[in-house]
Amino acid sequence: MKNILITGASQGIGFELAKQFAKNDNFNLYLVSRNKKKLEKLKLELNKINSNVNSYSLSIDLSKEGAIDILVSDIKNKIKHLDIVVNNAGYLVNEKFDNLSENQLLQCFNVNIFVPFYLTQKTLPILSQNAHTIFISSIGGINGTKKFPGLSAYSSSKGALITLTECLAEEYQDKSYKFNCLALGAVQTEMLDQAFPGYKAPLSANEISQFIFDFCVNGNKYFNGKVLPVALTTP
Ligand SMILES: NC(=O)c1ccc[n+]([C@@H]2O[C@H](COP(=O)([O-])OP(=O)(O)OC[C@H]3O[C@@H](n4cnc5c(N)ncnc54)[C@H](OP(=O)(O)O)[C@@H]3O)[C@@H](O)[C@H]2O)c1
Repeated sequence: MKNILITGASQGIGFELAKQFAKNDNFNLYLVSRNKKKLEKLKLELNKINSNVNSYSLSIDLSKEGAIDILVSDIKNKIKHLDIVVNNAGYLVNEKFDNLSENQLLQCFNVNIFVPFYLTQKTLPILSQNAHTIFISSIGGINGTKKFPGLSAYSSSKGALITLTECLAEEYQDKSYKFNCLALGAVQTEMLDQAFPGYKAPLSANEISQFIFDFCVNGNKYFNGKVLPVALTTP
């Protein structure tokens, strides 16, 4: 059995990714987001897909002080170690640069970079042999890609996540575990609607989750510290 942690599982890509893992009997799932009702709905969906699926969930705001300690301590009690960690929770701010408030900036950097940073620090001691940590970034976080007005905080926080991936792979290259990053292009979710209202993405959350699932399970055999752009279009 492999133990999987997915943050941001209440909707969108994280929700669909949990469903991909549930198709198989080999995974215990630990699912996190703030919205308890949506996590309960996900649990029902997972049980419909596979009545044997073993899933735990925690509704918590990961950006709040102490939240990651609470999460990691609960993971230790319930499933002990982690084989795959998917840092998927994300926060979008779509605001003109000169109107960005301190709160918007803090929340954006908190969820998109500080949370994965601390979560990685705190989960390192419970990673199993050959564990794979995946960071879900954005194509807009890659240097030289097209940028969009209103997304300065979001895209720069996602850029930091890309650099963090490379640093971790370097710092832990003597270990068996791997760190990789997927820089996604447009996927039809609530977040995309907020970033580009009315835009129709070429991929659904279900479609991209099939790719992410495969990458989570197999990507560490081929990659470490890599940032893969996974985008058909811009946005
Ligand atoms: N959709 C796209 O086109 C696209 C493109 C590039 C990258 N991405 C990235 O892909 C990931 C998933 O995005 P999505 O499109 O599925 O977005 P989404 O539908 O907005 O889902 C975001 C998830 O993050 C969780 N979350 C947000 N703040 C949180 C917090 N403080 N604590 C715990 N959970 C929190 C949300 O759950 P709660 O509200 O229940 O907390 C939700 O489950 C994000 O990292 C996003 O930046 C998406």
